[in-house]
Amino acid sequence: MLTAIVIDTTGAAHTLHGKAGDSIMQLARAADLPVVGECNGSLACATCHMVVDPDWAARLAPVGEDEEAMLDTIFNLKPTSRLSCQIKLRADLDGIRLFLPA
Ligand code: FES
Repeated sequence: MLTAIVIDTTGAAHTLHGKAGDSIMQLARAADLPVVGECNGSLACATCHMVVDPDWAARLAPVGEDEEAMLDTIFNLKPTSRLSCQIKLRADLDGIRLFLPA
């Protein structure tokens, strides 16, 4: 079992549990966090936006063209903003920290 820690807008930490290949968006929705994930991970919305803790951001694959195009539609973009449907749990990301955007 792998974990991801999502900090909500009140500062509360939520530990999500999943297996390799699960997306952070899926796990956040299953935990009833306010993540819409309207397109179910097909890079057609941006309602799964999260901000990755800078200490973890460099471990992720670079932002692809399609993800970048969707990120460009976000008004509160941060340097480590990512679409959480594109972040899949894997062993070297165990314990990754992300923030729900304000
Ligand atoms: Fe739509 Fe992530 S759920 S882009």
